Amino acid sequence: TAGTPGPFASAAGAPGGFPTVRPRRLRRTPALRRLVAETHVRPEQLVLPVFVAEGATEQRPVASMPGVVQHTRDSLRAEVVRAAEAGLGGVMLFGVPASKDPVGSGATDPQGILNVAIADVVAEVGDALPVMSDLCLDEFTDHGHCGLLDSRGAVDNDATLEAYAAMALAQADAGVDLVGPSGMMDGQVGVVRTALDAAGHTDVGILAYAAKYASAFYGPFREAVDSSLVGDRRTYQQDPANAREGVREALLDVAEGADLVMVKPALGYLDVLQRVAEAVPVPVAAYQVSGEYAMLEAAAAHGWIDREAAILESLVSIRRAGADIVLTYWALEVARLLR
Ligand code: PBG
Repeated sequence: TAGTPGPFASAAGAPGGFPTVRPRRLRRTPALRRLVAETHVRPEQLVLPVFVAEGATEQRPVASMPGVVQHTRDSLRAEVVRAAEAGLGGVMLFGVPASKDPVGSGATDPQGILNVAIADVVAEVGDALPVMSDLCLDEFTDHGHCGLLDSRGAVDNDATLEAYAAMALAQADAGVDLVGPSGMMDGQVGVVRTALDAAGHTDVGILAYAAKYASAFYGPFREAVDSSLVGDRRTYQQDPANAREGVREALLDVAEGADLVMVKPALGYLDVLQRVAEAVPVPVAAYQVSGEYAMLEAAAAHGWIDREAAILESLVSIRRAGADIVLTYWALEVARLLR
């Protein structure tokens, strides 16, 4: 009982003289905790994904992602200025075309929404903010798949590679810093690198969506880009059951010339992230995807979770697992919180 010293009591009165090792000492004050923190989240590590809708004259809210909108070209320009002022690491652009077709023509058209938006953004921020673009056909195809379909309706890997090469050139011509091939076609990074180099775009880098899983957590994104996908992407995106395969994909992308690799989604895939980060000699990004955002926002809206604390905890966890860079829809808000 308290206050009754046992035979081995220490001076402090702890039973048996223990504990002599007290990890709690380093947790006693906020200043001590800050001193020993192993992982930090900084604005420059965060990349803001943004959507821009062709022909939009007003921002359109994305219902399943409260606080996220489809931008107009003008509101996108204003947003990237805020991103630069907040010291973010970059922006990742997604285009929402006004019309779609089987081959995703809008993706390679220099006047297509993504390509004009890249040019708008680069004109606005110049070299002050790295500009990245999603390199994938799913936003532009009427069937919603990330590639071209063969006569039986299957996604044709090698035909799609040609389309990706053309799309990469259109984005590079528009002035993008990093293209983000995200369609999970075999060989996509090598083909894009070769096409860029042959056209003299040797300075345009590749952020490869290397370990990208066929995830239910992309659901809200499909609303954000008005996706028309029927079915799923399991013949090209990875099986959530496999981690080793994620490492293989990342190593292949590095061998093909990826400058950075990405793991996606983030929170459910921290083990993959850790293994990839240990395996590759390039910077590693993680994408905190739309479903991760929606889940936390929904719980917070019910008052079931401390919103800001949960956002920061999710980000520090992703960083701790090995991400150098995190794509997150909260990037701007978190930059303000960290200030
Ligand atoms: C493909 C792409 C997707 C996302 C980013 N790039 C959708 C998909 O693969 O189905 C999802 C991002 C998110 O859910 O936040 N263009």
